[in-house]
Amino acid sequence: MSAISKIDLWQVLDSRGMPTVSARVSLGNKSANAIAPSGASTGAHEALFLRDNKESYDGKSVSETIALFTKEVLPHLIGIDGNDFAELDKNLRNYDSSRTFSKFGGHIPVAITIAAWLANAKEKNAEPFKVIADRLNSTPTLPLPMVNIFSGGAHAGGAIDLQDILAVPIGATSIEEAMEWVWLVRESTKSLLSKSGHDQSLVADEGGVTARLQSDEQALQFVSDGIAKAGLSGKVAIALDIAATQSFQGDHYQIHESGNIKKLSSEQFVSRWGKWLDIYPIISVEDGAAEDDNDGWKQQSEYCDRIQIIGDDRYATQNDRLVSGIANLEANTILIKPNQAGTLHSALTALTTAKGSNWGTVVSARSGDTEESWLVDLAVGSNAGQIKVGSTHRSERSAKWNRLLELSHFATASYIGKAALSHVKNLNI
Ligand code: PGA
Ligand code: ZN
Repeated sequence: MSAISKIDLWQVLDSRGMPTVSARVSLGNKSANAIAPSGASTGAHEALFLRDNKESYDGKSVSETIALFTKEVLPHLIGIDGNDFAELDKNLRNYDSSRTFSKFGGHIPVAITIAAWLANAKEKNAEPFKVIADRLNSTPTLPLPMVNIFSGGAHAGGAIDLQDILAVPIGATSIEEAMEWVWLVRESTKSLLSKSGHDQSLVADEGGVTARLQSDEQALQFVSDGIAKAGLSGKVAIALDIAATQSFQGDHYQIHESGNIKKLSSEQFVSRWGKWLDIYPIISVEDGAAEDDNDGWKQQSEYCDRIQIIGDDRYATQNDRLVSGIANLEANTILIKPNQAGTLHSALTALTTAKGSNWGTVVSARSGDTEESWLVDLAVGSNAGQIKVGSTHRSERSAKWNRLLELSHFATASYIGKAALSHVKNLNI
């Protein structure tokens, strides 16, 4: 038992300059900090990020929720065993029992529970990933990276509808080789866009390249050509985050092509990207249908043998939503975002359920992220297999890749590579 002796909460800024919360948890004489990330394409089922809606920071501040939480909940957390993630989760939910933490928001519990884990590691004089590995009884493994090359949607002012076109270095045998390959693909895609007259002086929210193109497929062609130009055809595959919830209008999807708005049914929307699987080396599709579009999810399940079908908004890192998804055989992989769950314990519960059903797990950052790198320790310690933290550019992204390279340098764990995709029977490449 290692009782929580003190918790401090204060307001800081995330990578988009938006206010968020930083927590410091003290266990005995050891303490650690953690900052809550936040999304732009958030789903309806995830833990809420509550902003004050007052004058401060034009309504975006979180200082009032911090003050309220500090007064009403914090005193009750002192003395709880900070090593017991489940107990901490239970106590936090005592004061905000809604699944989405609608009273105080999920940003505060996630920061506190992550900081408690990191303080726990300091107490044990252990690396944070080791604490997770011991807890889950897993073998620490360096994950296969999924790296953003081209950004659209809510992360790039709607340049295209698709949110992410990512590179997956399936042929690389080390994380060093993997990172160099995706870097080369980003550079060559950027140079192809530049040569076609698309200004490349800015980067999107997650550090990816972007351009206002005629269609999603044109962007896909650019990335595909970028892979070929880098001499990495067959070695680097493509993953898409369609973030379909953003295009859903209640009973149909709305997309943009050649300056026109098109309305598509669920079936037309899923078939549209389904056709791309025969043309491009796509091995993974995230949120290929909107979070509550059950028909769309049913339809895309036909691709589960060929590609990774990932649920992000669909499961929102919530264990019970995942359990239904597994029962429906509608996908084969879950995105794990700790702040969607609201606590570290809940995120680990969903991850464990997925692994127990031979589903893939991709630990993911948010578009509004921070300079911290604990997400990598979470992915390595839990043997998640895959990690997605945006592009190679921007410090909040490179902080995570650099932690992965640090763990590789010190030979902490072996690199999983393509074996992370072994839950897909006949990979589309
Ligand atoms: P978000 O995007 O953090 O803006 O939700 C990341 C994702 O959709 O995977
Ligand atoms: Zn997503």
